[in-house]
Amino acid sequence: MTVETIRWKNNRVELIDQRLLPAKLKYAICVTDKDMWTAIRTLKVRGAPAIGVAGAYGVYLGVRESKAKVYKAFRREVDRIIEYLARSRPTARNLFWALERVLDVVEKNKDKKISVIKKIILREAHTILKEDKKTCRAIGRYGSVLIPRGSTVLTHCNAGGLATVDYGTALGVIFTARKKIKRVYVDETRPVLQGARLTAWELKKQGIPATLVCDNMAASLMADGEVDTIIVGADRIAANGDTANKIGTYGLAILASYHNIPFYVAAPVSTFDLSISNGREIPIEERDSLEVKKIGKEYITLKDMDVRNPAFDVTPAKLITAIITERGLIKSPCRKRIRDVVNRQDARGKK
Ligand code: MRU
Repeated sequence: MTVETIRWKNNRVELIDQRLLPAKLKYAICVTDKDMWTAIRTLKVRGAPAIGVAGAYGVYLGVRESKAKVYKAFRREVDRIIEYLARSRPTARNLFWALERVLDVVEKNKDKKISVIKKIILREAHTILKEDKKTCRAIGRYGSVLIPRGSTVLTHCNAGGLATVDYGTALGVIFTARKKIKRVYVDETRPVLQGARLTAWELKKQGIPATLVCDNMAASLMADGEVDTIIVGADRIAANGDTANKIGTYGLAILASYHNIPFYVAAPVSTFDLSISNGREIPIEERDSLEVKKIGKEYITLKDMDVRNPAFDVTPAKLITAIITERGLIKSPCRKRIRDVVNRQDARGKK
């Protein structure tokens, strides 16, 4: 285990407050659904799989004090809380996937007592958390095969233990293949610096040789032959394989294609959104301009400067060498290969 990003303890959710890293490792406490909404929105908890788990617990926090006596009234509350949590961040599919899973168990158990349904919701959140641990390790195993011995890997943002429950997707591959990896280049990932603050911290903690670079250094590293492989995570993958991930990912994929470097996306099946045809339909979150205008507490530009701050961009499928999932690899992703893997039954017969 690399970190314990999110846990259920003393009847509440504890999650590492990622805004404070690497200076401080401190858990934030969530007691209500509002606490959880705020934690997701303000990036105390972030990373697609982690916010999925957080969202599922958020539903329980919202309903546990419910006074509803009959299913209809209870269901109205569940719907309201799910809609509320769904408004915290728009891009990562995993949040909606987890909320839909919770809604599904509520509906399936509508004949039970309200007190029992509440327990079932909490149990489902625990299950989603446990599954994430296994999923990330399976992604690590499938992806590790793709890493050549003695290679240098570049990653962007943070798709590590902090972005999941404890192991990571892109970093899960790096952790599993660590003996074969000479060095990891970590993009700092402006504007929120998930690479500099979080990925650097995780790799150091694991004793994996890592070098931090500014985002604009990646091109010349590739030109100099210093990058053998690129691995990133994903927030939402459309039916054709177009992939939304942290802003800057698209640029890296173009650079990788120009320099003939394999470009891998590591993501669980819960990140796929087969209901949308291509990347143009993925909702892209636009965040507060202060993230761009300031570093820490300091303004780095004019206070009234006009800025754009899209948190994600979309990499077209044709620039992706393979998508690494817990159910196997999707090489040269296309609609059919994606459907085959996403609909493949996993070992326990679950879809
Ligand atoms: O805005 P963030 O920090 O939530 O963005 C996170 C990313 O873009 C990650 O790469 C993605 O969620 C994959 S995490 C396994």
